[in-house]
Amino acid sequence: MPVHSDCSDCEEERFSFEAFTRHPFFTDVNRWIVERVICPGRRKIVDLGCGPGAVTKLILERLGDARNATVIGIDPSASALQKARDAIHSKVVEFIQGSAEWVSRLVSSADAVVFLNAIHLVPDKAQVIGEIRKTLKQDGVFAFNTTFFNGAYVEGTAAFWRRWVVRAVQVLRERGFEVQHSAHAHAVARQFLTAAEYSNLCVQAGFSPPTIDLVRIEMTPESMRDIGRFSLFIEGALPGVPLEEGAAALEKGLDRAMDETGVRTVPRNWLECVATAA
Ligand SMILES: C[S@@+](CC[C@H](N)C(=O)[O-])C[C@H]1O[C@@H](n2cnc3c(N)ncnc32)[C@H](O)[C@@H]1O
Repeated sequence: MPVHSDCSDCEEERFSFEAFTRHPFFTDVNRWIVERVICPGRRKIVDLGCGPGAVTKLILERLGDARNATVIGIDPSASALQKARDAIHSKVVEFIQGSAEWVSRLVSSADAVVFLNAIHLVPDKAQVIGEIRKTLKQDGVFAFNTTFFNGAYVEGTAAFWRRWVVRAVQVLRERGFEVQHSAHAHAVARQFLTAAEYSNLCVQAGFSPPTIDLVRIEMTPESMRDIGRFSLFIEGALPGVPLEEGAAALEKGLDRAMDETGVRTVPRNWLECVATAA
């Protein structure tokens, strides 16, 4: 595919989430929750925010021969869906372009909605969790995970994550870029909620009090480099900065932060939440 600097599909392609999904710990945090919610009785399954399909593959793996199921992958990104369609050829899977904000208009009477590594991107979480409740049957399950929440930083590591962004901003300034501090929309969308706040939102939307676990993983330097090349991460860390410059600055900033601290791998928590429709 030719690459044009002004083509948003090409941009999405170049700054895709796919490289990050190949790290083994990422499979682990997703398989952890998929194994808890996908079982033979649950036949209509929504993979919301499916992206390039890493979680869809885990759901299919978990279903094994129970192929009387339907798996519906939904994502707003056309380029991510194209990757998912290219990677997954299964009669039980269909992919739909759409968004969590109106998921109940796309699917109804689902047994499970799995929304992995995406809920932090949603500005109005109460509205979206309400939509997911409408999409589910009574007793259906809603499972989500995220590492962008208040509690993700393992004790003693917050300074490293801060230093990484500070060094990236420093690199941008050296290269003549002004970095905005007040990209309000981004700040709201990237608001880090606590586990208790997520739990309350689920209950307010008509779920029983959810079970919440923290799974701790070790982020390797390669995985941090890969997440630093993902469009939505760049936009969150460096609001308003063009993706190419943001990715380059995050890469250089990571090297500086590591050189200064001697840190190589960084532990981090994933929040894993399962709620049943009351
Ligand atoms: C970090 S990726 C996660 C992909 C996949 N769930 C996984 O865990 O491998 C986040 C995905 O959420 C999607 N997304 C962003 N906003 C969304 C929304 N409002 N509704 C549904 N999906 C959304 C993005 O397009 C992206 O594909």
